[in-house]
Amino acid sequence: MNKIFFLKKRTFYVLMMCLTSCIVLRIMLHAQESVPKLIDAKWLKENLSRENMRIVDVRDDVKEYWKGHIPGAVYLDPEAMKWPQGGVPVKLIRPAAFVELLGEMGIDRNTFVIAYSERGDFSAPYLVWALDYIGHEKSAVLDGGFLKWEKEKGAVTQDYPQIGSERYPPPSGLNENVRATLKQVEQSIGQEDVLVLDVRTEALYTGEAGVWKRRGHIQGAVHHFWGDDMNEDGTWKEAKEIRRIYETLGATPDKTIIVSCGQGSMSSHTYFTLKHVLGYPKVKHYDGSFHEWSNLEELPVQSGRSAGPDPEKLLQNRCTACHNLDRVHKQKEDAAGWEKIIDRMIKRGTKLNETERMMLVDFLSKKGK
Ligand code: HEC
Repeated sequence: MNKIFFLKKRTFYVLMMCLTSCIVLRIMLHAQESVPKLIDAKWLKENLSRENMRIVDVRDDVKEYWKGHIPGAVYLDPEAMKWPQGGVPVKLIRPAAFVELLGEMGIDRNTFVIAYSERGDFSAPYLVWALDYIGHEKSAVLDGGFLKWEKEKGAVTQDYPQIGSERYPPPSGLNENVRATLKQVEQSIGQEDVLVLDVRTEALYTGEAGVWKRRGHIQGAVHHFWGDDMNEDGTWKEAKEIRRIYETLGATPDKTIIVSCGQGSMSSHTYFTLKHVLGYPKVKHYDGSFHEWSNLEELPVQSGRSAGPDPEKLLQNRCTACHNLDRVHKQKEDAAGWEKIIDRMIKRGTKLNETERMMLVDFLSKKGK
């Protein structure tokens, strides 16, 4: 009796140990699998022979690929990811055609895809966004692209990879959370919890330059140039620094951020920055972008510089928690005087970033005159 009990107890312990090690192993495997979305050359060098991984070279010119590429990399012309839709020229290719492309590159649903372009430009993020859209989460961008890889003396080859033809199954569902439609952008105008970010150059945003039927930007869109998130060498700036820039613009993680540009290329870069570098939860890429929007006469287009936040609204929002605005309006000060007052209010707990602070100082001192 005693012996049986002992045996049972031992079996119980053995079972428990198995279970525990199973759990630990799973956690370890999981930790191993979770690779950041932005990988550096050092990581890739150490993982070049990793299983079920496909490196995709999406540089603009295939000649660059012929001259030399990262070992194992397959070439994808970035323009191949774009196709007309309903008369609008360059939107994301149909998902069914996109997965066919993936299969051709030896990618299946479980392949870890690493994309690189020349330097930190937008073709690699475009591929990651397209993968996000079809629900393929295992992907990353090589920080600094091929240029940085070469600089760090990463291996380069002229050989093509050996690829059998895989079949990528049709996506079971599309992740509409990461893509904005024309209608959604239209509905977002005037809404406080949605921000449209236009990430083209300043001249395209203001309408001084551009080749579309109408120039300028989507009404209410806030301007931020995508390249300002990058260092000189094409790597991303520190997340902390980038985040500060976006918060100054009012692009905070509580809002839905719709990113837009001319034809959905540059904005895929900003999508990647917000979604995967900063971890914002609600980022939508509008790949129809200004080339779709500007062509439809009934949709509002603005030109000129961004009006920015309305100072009256800012006073109402930030300054009325402790006293009413009479207190503010009856005070007459010059810029230096207002700067002192505002800084006192910030010390007392008023939340204002640098842009807002300067804007209020400017607004209040002019008002007093
Ligand atoms: C956290 C609370 C709080 C917020 C928010 C706040 N204030 Fe004040 N404010 C005070 C207090 C406290 C005083 C001083 C009251 C007193 O002296 O009795 C004051 C006084 C003032 C005065 C009178 C001059 C002075 O320095 O005493 C002005 C003008 C003023 N605030 C402007 C603003 C503006 C503009 C904002 C928004 C940018 C703002 N306040 C936001 C707490 C606040």
